[in-house]
Amino acid sequence: MPDSSFTHRKQGGGELPWWRHGLVYQVYIRSFADANGDGTGDVNGLRSRLPYLRELGIDAIWINPWYQSPLADGGYDVADYRQIEPRFGNLAQAEALIAEAHDHDIKVITDVVPNHTSDQHAWFREAVTAAPGHPSRNRYHILPGKGANGEKPPTDWPSVFGGPAWARLPDGEWYLHLFAPEQPDLNWANPEVNEGFQDMLRFWLDRGVDGFRVDVAHGLVKHPDYPDVNHDSGDVLATAKDRNHPFWDRDGIHDIVRTWRTVLEEYPGDRMMVAEAWVDPERLPLYLRPDEYHQSFNFALVESEWDAEDFAAIIEKSTRAAAEVGSTPTWVLSNHDVMRQATRYGLPKGTKLRTWPLTGPFDVLDVDAGARRARAAALVMLGLPGSAYLYQGEELGLPEVWDLPPEVLDDPVWENSHHAQKGRDGCRVPIPWTVDGPSFGFGPGEPWLPQPEDWGSLSVAAQDDDPDSTLSLYRDAIAARRRYCMDDDSLEILDVGGPDDHVVAFRRGSGLSCVVNFGPGVVRLPDHTEVVVRSDHHGHDSADLAPDTAAWLL
Ligand code: GLC
Repeated sequence: MPDSSFTHRKQGGGELPWWRHGLVYQVYIRSFADANGDGTGDVNGLRSRLPYLRELGIDAIWINPWYQSPLADGGYDVADYRQIEPRFGNLAQAEALIAEAHDHDIKVITDVVPNHTSDQHAWFREAVTAAPGHPSRNRYHILPGKGANGEKPPTDWPSVFGGPAWARLPDGEWYLHLFAPEQPDLNWANPEVNEGFQDMLRFWLDRGVDGFRVDVAHGLVKHPDYPDVNHDSGDVLATAKDRNHPFWDRDGIHDIVRTWRTVLEEYPGDRMMVAEAWVDPERLPLYLRPDEYHQSFNFALVESEWDAEDFAAIIEKSTRAAAEVGSTPTWVLSNHDVMRQATRYGLPKGTKLRTWPLTGPFDVLDVDAGARRARAAALVMLGLPGSAYLYQGEELGLPEVWDLPPEVLDDPVWENSHHAQKGRDGCRVPIPWTVDGPSFGFGPGEPWLPQPEDWGSLSVAAQDDDPDSTLSLYRDAIAARRRYCMDDDSLEILDVGGPDDHVVAFRRGSGLSCVVNFGPGVVRLPDHTEVVVRSDHHGHDSADLAPDTAAWLL
C-alpha cells in the first residue's frame, strides 16, 4: 500500500521539453572510440558509434570538453573554445557529428568551462607577458602577494586538486587556480569575460548544439576582497554552507547565469543548460529559477552507499525539491570524476573511496556483489521521474580500474596531491568494443590508458546478443522507460514490507513499479501481473527477489 505520495502532476497536453526526462549518455571522448589510431578517442570514433548509441535508446549525448587543450586536466583546461583539440579531430568533424547525431534523433550537449581557462589560452598568454597593472591581467585573478616582498600567496585558499590555489608568475605576482596550476581562474567581475563567453555560446548554438553542461557552476564569482578561508574552519572545499564563502556559491553567480539564459532563449528549439553545482541542497533551487539553469546535476546517488534507507531518503527528497521549483529531478550514478559504481558498491560501507585504491585493504572488495548492485541501481535510476545521466561503460557494467600502475596515471590529482590520491583515471579507461584485437576495438593503436586483460569479456561484442548481459539489461530497461516512465512525473513511494526488509519500492503513473531488495535475504515480490525487467536473469520468473536485485513490475 502506498504510504506517501507526491508530485502527482500529470502533465495535461503539450509535449514536455526533451530534457525533462531525457536520458543523457556522457561521452568521455578521450576514452570512447579512437578512429585514427593515436590511442586517444576522437570525434570520428564517436561518429562511428552513433548507431550503437541509437540502439541503446538514449536521448542525448553530453560530450566532455573537446576543445583545443594541452589536456593537463583531460580537456577541462581549454586553450581555444572555438577549436577542436587536434587529437580529437577538427571543427568540420564536430559539425558533422552534430548533424549525424541529429539524424539519429540524438541531441548534443557540449561541456563549457567558464571558471577557468588553460594557461595556454590567448588571454592568459597575453596577461602573463604584459606588465603588472596591464588591463589584460584583469581577466584573471592576478594579484601581488603578501609578506615584505610579496613572497606569500594573496590568500590561504587551497586548490581542489591539492596544494595552494595560487601560483607565482616570474614577475612576482600571483594568479589564482582553484584547480590545477595549468587552469587559471577567470575574473567574472570583468565584463569582457562574460562577453567572450556569450559569443562562445552563440558559436556552438549556431552549430546546432542542444545544450551545455556548465563546469564548476558554483565557482565563478570570487569575493572582491579576497578574504582568507581559515583552514581551521573545517573542509573549506566541501559544499559551502557559508553564505559568504570567498569562492563557492556566491550570490553574484545568478546574474551571470541569467545572461546566458537570455542567449539560449534567442535560439529556436529546446536548448538547455545543466549545472555542475556542488552546493548545499537548500541552495540548489536558486540555480533552477525559471530564468537560470534548466537543470542541475543531483549528486546524491553518486555520494550514497548501497543502502535502502539512504536511497529511499534521496528519492523522496530529490523529487520533492525538484517539484517545489517546478522542475524534475536529475539522477547520476557515476561520471568521469568518481569511482565506477560496480566497484563502489562492492566495497564495505565507510570505505574512503579517494584513497582506497592506494591504501586498500584490497581483499574486502566483493566484485560480484558490486556488479549485482550496480545492475539493480540502474533500474532505480532509469525508473525514476526526471532525467538520468549515464556515464559511458556503465551500460557494460565496467568496474573501476583501481589498480592502474602509478607510471600511467595522467590525472593532475595524482601529482597535485603529492601521490596521496591516484585520482580519476580508473573510471576513464578506454571502452572495450570487441572481444579481442588491439585495445579491444577501442582503436587500432595503443590506448592512452591500459585496459585490464580480461576486458574483452565485458566488451560490447561479448554482451550484444547475450540476454543476461548488463548491456541487454540497459537496453531492455531503456526501452521500457520510454514506454512506462516518460508520460508524467508522478511517483508514489510504496511500502511493500516490514521496516527490516531493506526494500525500496515506488510506482509510476503508468502503473509500473520498481522494487529493490537491498537486504541480505530473499523477499517476496508484491502482487503483479507481469515482470517487465529484472536485474538478475532474463526470463527468470521466480516470485522472489534475491538480495541486491531489482525488478520492474506491472
Ligand atoms: C569539474 C569536472 C572535472 C574537472 C574540474 C575542473 O569538476 O567534472 O573533471 O577536473 O571540473 O575543471
